[in-house]
Amino acid sequence: MNGPVVRPRRLRTSRAMRRLVAETRVHRAELILPMFVREGIDAPVPIASMPGVVQHTLDTLRAELVRAAELGIGGVMLFGIPQQKDAVGTCATTEDGILNVAIRAAVEEVGDALVVQSDLCLDEFTDHGHCGVLDDRGRVDNDATLERYREMAIVQAAAGSHLLGLSGMMDGQVAAVRDALDAAGHTDTAVLAYAAKYASAFYGPFREAVQSSLSGDRRTYQLDSGNRREGLREADLDLAEGADVVMVKPAMGYLDVLAATAARSTVPVWAYQISGEYSMIVAASQNGWIDREQAVDESILGIRRAGADAVLTYFALEAAERLRQAG
Ligand code: PBG
Repeated sequence: MNGPVVRPRRLRTSRAMRRLVAETRVHRAELILPMFVREGIDAPVPIASMPGVVQHTLDTLRAELVRAAELGIGGVMLFGIPQQKDAVGTCATTEDGILNVAIRAAVEEVGDALVVQSDLCLDEFTDHGHCGVLDDRGRVDNDATLERYREMAIVQAAAGSHLLGLSGMMDGQVAAVRDALDAAGHTDTAVLAYAAKYASAFYGPFREAVQSSLSGDRRTYQLDSGNRREGLREADLDLAEGADVVMVKPAMGYLDVLAATAARSTVPVWAYQISGEYSMIVAASQNGWIDREQAVDESILGIRRAGADAVLTYFALEAAERLRQAG
């Protein structure tokens, strides 16, 4: 008995060998940091369910953006938390609305170094917490919402946003926003379609982060967890409507959808490691149950391996710091 002829372990014998044969690498430029900016506060407010993540003031936003640029990540995704919420999300489309003010600040501060992206959705701005406006029976009105998204797109583009993140899951939203942007002369403003966005329990901490007033759920517009083919259909539609980038969200529970979308997409495919995915890793590591650094790096690597060209993650800065040190 001479033992096995084939020994895959040979390629794992040293750190240098493992480094050389690595199939997937993460680069700092492929990380995007989601950030929250809140109106009417004079110091950052911690988000209890997302330890380490805060609602920023405009000043602390700027400071964090400078750090993000220094660390060489690819971009930031901005979310605004207004003081006033109403049925149609008025503050989403006013020039002095918090998100639009934050976009201008971000572009001024780091607009050459980072891709400044903004959430284009009404849920942070509505008093009922839904991603669109409601009809007289209280249902989310798809086509009336598209009109609001069109206005929102023009205001965000005028504020300087480079890439609009369409996260509302309304039918026809990419075509509607693209048309509005082009008609207003914003032909260079790109559209990121949250194409396959699943209704998920893992958005939980985000609700606290944006002080959502939602009661009920988003199941009439976000996808059912079990539906892979429907996710691909959504991505196909968004591509046909002119999306510049498509996204799958959440990430870890949906890596099959991500892989399948990446296999057929002709545009970049991104994934969003969402609030609950962040909080689980942080909570488990705070209990000493898993190693934070390894869990963070492994989770991002897994999302890349499944096919994401870039990853939105609240871990972007700490991961970038390690990647910079690793060289
Ligand atoms: C909608 C939006 C949500 C998230 C990003 N954009 C909330 C939702 O759809 O319920 C969630 C992000 C996260 O959980 O980290 N504006």
